Amino acid sequence: MKKTSLVAIGALAALAVVGMIATGQSSIAPIDPPAPESFSAEAIARGQQLAALGDCAVCHTRDGGAPLTGGRAMVTPFGTLYTSNLTPDRDTGIGAWSFEAFKRAMRAGISREGDYLYPAFPYTAFTRIADEDLRDLYAYLMSRPAVKADRPNNRLPFPFNQRRIMAGWNFLFFDKGIFQPQAQRDAAWNRGAYLVEGLGHCSACHTPRNALGAERTGKDRFAGATVDGWQAPALNASNKPPIPWNQALLYDYFRNGFSRYHGAAAGPMAPVSAGLTQQSDTDLRAMARYLATFLPEQAGNLSPEQRAVELEQRTYGTLQPVSGRGGRIFNGACMACHHDGDSPKLNGVRLSLAVSNNLHAATPDNLLQVILHGIGDPARPELGYMPAFGNSLSDGQVVALTRYLREDFAGLPAWPDLEFKVAKLR
Ligand code: HEC
Ligand code: HEC
Ligand code: HEC
Repeated sequence: MKKTSLVAIGALAALAVVGMIATGQSSIAPIDPPAPESFSAEAIARGQQLAALGDCAVCHTRDGGAPLTGGRAMVTPFGTLYTSNLTPDRDTGIGAWSFEAFKRAMRAGISREGDYLYPAFPYTAFTRIADEDLRDLYAYLMSRPAVKADRPNNRLPFPFNQRRIMAGWNFLFFDKGIFQPQAQRDAAWNRGAYLVEGLGHCSACHTPRNALGAERTGKDRFAGATVDGWQAPALNASNKPPIPWNQALLYDYFRNGFSRYHGAAAGPMAPVSAGLTQQSDTDLRAMARYLATFLPEQAGNLSPEQRAVELEQRTYGTLQPVSGRGGRIFNGACMACHHDGDSPKLNGVRLSLAVSNNLHAATPDNLLQVILHGIGDPARPELGYMPAFGNSLSDGQVVALTRYLREDFAGLPAWPDLEFKVAKLR
């Protein structure tokens, strides 16, 4: 048996014991939903912007459902759970929740009724949010139309269906409490840290987790992780794109939903990015400033533009005459939008594939996802949509195309096990 699974079993046993002796948490008395007029228009507007950064509606909306009515399935290694209805409906939503009940859920991961919440709800990050921001979020949620919407029953096997084991999990892994600024850092850095570590919950996807689903710490912080079949790249020193990120480029990516020097925000990053584009310049610059402190030291002295031109010239200078299978597929399926000339762009931004991070990454996952499933929901509509090719290209064609892009555009050896990956990600 692997060492990690032994540790996991030991820790689970510990959780069960702590859960057994943990006393339940108290219930907070229900209230009548507050009248929407009791909140100022300013508080509601601020709350809306905060909710966009916290991705509340991304998780708390089912496919085709009304915003914030919950019911979205979250598939975890421990089973499937469903998000709750966050509209102020008294019976199925949070209409009966006082501000104190809402604040306790966000800060401590306990529901109004006193049940432990699962950390698929990122309270481990939301605990850092200051009271005044929580008040604005509450004003925003409580002024939405109340919609009756039940949530499906969770499908979690024993012991994970016992909410009380979360008392043990919290004891082991939950560092509760609002953000503490670091005195030796300036105000902008601290503001960025507050947003990234709190409401932004960026590490929820960009940090690998241990066998019990807690984010790893130390050098694994922001070391990259798998989410929903995508790779959320490392945001720390192990991030090695062909053109290094820096503070200005991060800001640009947050502001626009794509970077000329890296690519688009696709997959699970697209809705996150849509929320980022609604934030103020000052806040996005602060987040970039904070995250830049995790990046590796910059090597070389070429500007991003010089490096991009170098990569593009190398690619287009050596591009094989399109006689191979992959090249022919590229010409037929991709070239119209991803051409390398100066002719007008057909649709949205023309991403330069020669510099795309996803062609240079250690795994083909994100490139395959984009080819198979397209980008139907870009961070901003102006970026354009990319069609899905899952139905028109066979597995063999996707493999040939991917190999061509990797070898001829990125100039790197083909990824191993492509056939297997394509079949899996389809
Ligand atoms: C990554 C997905 C995700 C995001 C983002 C998210 N939530 Fe949730 N949230 C969940 C899940 C899953 C649950 C249910 C947890 C459970 O049943 O233990 C939940 C539960 C809650 C609850 C408890 C509700 C109840 O009826 O018990 C509140 C309150 C809440 N979320 C508020 C928010 C707010 C406010 C935001 C945005 C700032 C937000 N959530 C963003 C996944 C998410
Ligand atoms: C729901 C999961 C999720 C969350 C939350 C999330 N990300 Fe991402 N992020 C991803 C994925 C997946 C990608 C890869 C997207 C692609 O290839 O188009 C990505 C890509 C990125 C990139 C580009 C990295 C590279 O080298 O190409 C940056 C920068 C980034 N995210 C920053 C952030 C920040 C800042 C936050 C918090 C505000 C955040 N992310 C929250 C999943 C997430
Ligand atoms: C109809 C135009 C169109 C066609 C055809 C098209 N794309 Fe795209 N592609 C786009 C647009 C627009 C984006 C950027 C979307 C965004 O920013 O949300 C994009 C983005 C991408 C990305 C970057 C994703 C990331 O995470 O950075 C890759 C890689 C890509 N396309 C590969 C391909 C390949 C391979 C083909 C052929 C099978 C193809 N595209 C065909 C329009 C197209």
